[in-house]
Amino acid sequence: MHPTLNITVKAARKAGDIILRYHNQIDLLTIENKAIHDFVSEVDKAAEGAIIDELKYAFPNHSILGEENGEILSNNRFQWIIDPLDGTTNYLHGFPQYAVSIALYENNEPTHAVVYDPFKEELFTASKGEGAYLNEQRIRTTHTNGFENTLIGTGFPFKTPQYLDAYLNMFKAIHPKVAGIRRAGSAALDLAYLAAGRLDGFWEIELNIWDIAAGVLLVKEAGGFVGDFSGRDKYLKTGNVVAGNDQVFKAILKTIHPHLTADLQR
Ligand code: IPD
Ligand code: CA
Ligand code: CA
Repeated sequence: MHPTLNITVKAARKAGDIILRYHNQIDLLTIENKAIHDFVSEVDKAAEGAIIDELKYAFPNHSILGEENGEILSNNRFQWIIDPLDGTTNYLHGFPQYAVSIALYENNEPTHAVVYDPFKEELFTASKGEGAYLNEQRIRTTHTNGFENTLIGTGFPFKTPQYLDAYLNMFKAIHPKVAGIRRAGSAALDLAYLAAGRLDGFWEIELNIWDIAAGVLLVKEAGGFVGDFSGRDKYLKTGNVVAGNDQVFKAILKTIHPHLTADLQR
């Protein structure tokens, strides 16, 4: 394992320990509402603090963007992007689908990624050009014949209700063509599952950069494709993400295209 990835894993495991320490005592947590349907607890903050301490110690000159702390230092070359707890709503309900997500970008290109599910002890890792792994076993995206018999991940636009109609139109178009659609509640894990061949495709509207920064490298290194709703590469900016194996990536893009409103074509 690349030494930088090793440090990333160490940071993710420290955050995972904090998350697990409280997962049976959720009633004791103070929960704040950051925005509509957007919650944060002291676990999110403590987990992010532990990751930042680890990264700052190892890489004092790197820039760090954390969901809860914003940007620390400005370094155009090396940028860490952290979601200390992706799936907070699941976590706060004891629904065991959440993860730590950490990525390093070098000159705006993802170079190392970790998505860690502490509850299931599943560690998804990737380094650019080195493939993607689950608990150190190589993982790859699936091969399918178009949409036939596929399982697709997604997320509902519960923080952006203005997109609900467009989303439901996309959903209605995809639903009859596939074997199933899952909304599990952690975009980072959705992308990791796609990399591991547990899902064949994924789409979601307006995610944040920290939800997807690590997952997109996992998907690419597992042989999959990631794009915005036009199939191009502005997904980190717009947060509109389509991902899949080569066939499903194309099939989702084609199927949602007639339902894109002007602002979703950005
Ligand atoms: C959320 C999860 C969820 C997605 C939301 C994200 P959070 O992240 O990734 O799957 O649908 O849009 O905000 O808030 O739990 O870190
Ligand atoms: Ca998130
Ligand atoms: Ca989060």
